Amino acid sequence: MNTVILPVTSDSLAWAKELIQDGEVVAFHTETVYGLGADATNDDAVRKIFALKGRPADNPLIAHVHADYDISRLVETPAWTQCLREKFLPGPLTMVYPSKEKVSRFVSSGLPTLSIRVPSSPVAQAFLRAVGVPVAAPSANRSKHVSPVTAQHVYDDFAGDIPLILDGGASQGGIESTVLDCTGAVPLILRAGLVTREMIASEVGACEYYTLHEGEKPKSPGMAYRHYAPACRTVFFTAAERNDALQAYREEAARGGTPVFLCEHAVAEAYPSIKSLDLGRTPEEMASNLYAHLRTAEKRASLLIGIEPLEHGGVMDGVRNRLLRAFGQDAKEQRDDT
Ligand code: TXA
Ligand code: MG
Repeated sequence: MNTVILPVTSDSLAWAKELIQDGEVVAFHTETVYGLGADATNDDAVRKIFALKGRPADNPLIAHVHADYDISRLVETPAWTQCLREKFLPGPLTMVYPSKEKVSRFVSSGLPTLSIRVPSSPVAQAFLRAVGVPVAAPSANRSKHVSPVTAQHVYDDFAGDIPLILDGGASQGGIESTVLDCTGAVPLILRAGLVTREMIASEVGACEYYTLHEGEKPKSPGMAYRHYAPACRTVFFTAAERNDALQAYREEAARGGTPVFLCEHAVAEAYPSIKSLDLGRTPEEMASNLYAHLRTAEKRASLLIGIEPLEHGGVMDGVRNRLLRAFGQDAKEQRDDT
């Protein structure tokens, strides 16, 4: 199969609609990362997504809809969730609701819930309006690989396997949406993102991170250890271990390798003679740059040396979660992702 990257035009949208109606998979830009979409009401189309990604069948997908779609057709919407939709949607917040079971059962992997996302990307909105149906879409990367933030990243993972990538340039958000469980009395963050715990709590009074207690069934199955992993050797240091990081860099260089630091701006600036991928200064910059840098590192580095940024809280919770997982550092923090 030939894989084509196209911008949104009336022609590309018409083709995308045809492909989705035919049960095909179409990749599309969103403001967080690119998605790999199929008709959420079509069993075979949804299964195709799992097969293409190599995604475990027990890890549910998000249903994406356009801004005027009436989500009460798909899910129960507790009254307290209204203000969150008004405040944050369209945008990088996925909300998990009790499902009315109107989409393929494969979308939710057998859970009684359905997660819904209304992306703000104009490309995603145009695509979702054109197709009309809810679109089940995970991030458009092979399972466990780094999520894609450009059409080229999607192409690198799926060339020859999907017909169309709807290009919208770089995904500025850079990390996946916040996933918020809205099935209980207090909203629970299943995956941290750009809509932060603090932002949600300030709207509805409380918001907690979900933590899996021993012996409990996970809210979202398929917890795994390492995700978002770049295809190169990696090693990770805390900010206090900077000298060890420098030592690792020197040793790799002495061996004839190409070591590269992945670090916040202050560290990159402090060592001008060291090759580094600079994550930036602010949490938002770090979110935006993280996956692009991990994908660059796989092409350039024989050893990627991660250095933990200093800041915590807010958007940094999401950035740290992805960063630690990319370096295989954290089995407990948050939850899995593919
Ligand atoms: O920003 C995003 O959310 C991107 C773009 C493409 O929209 N999508 C994305 O999808 O990251 P994916 O499949 O890579 O991650 C979805 C996450 C998974 O961790 C999954 O377990 C969780 O959301 N999830 C989906 N449906 C769920 C449900 N019903 N209950 C609990 N967790 C759910
Ligand atoms: Mg993913």
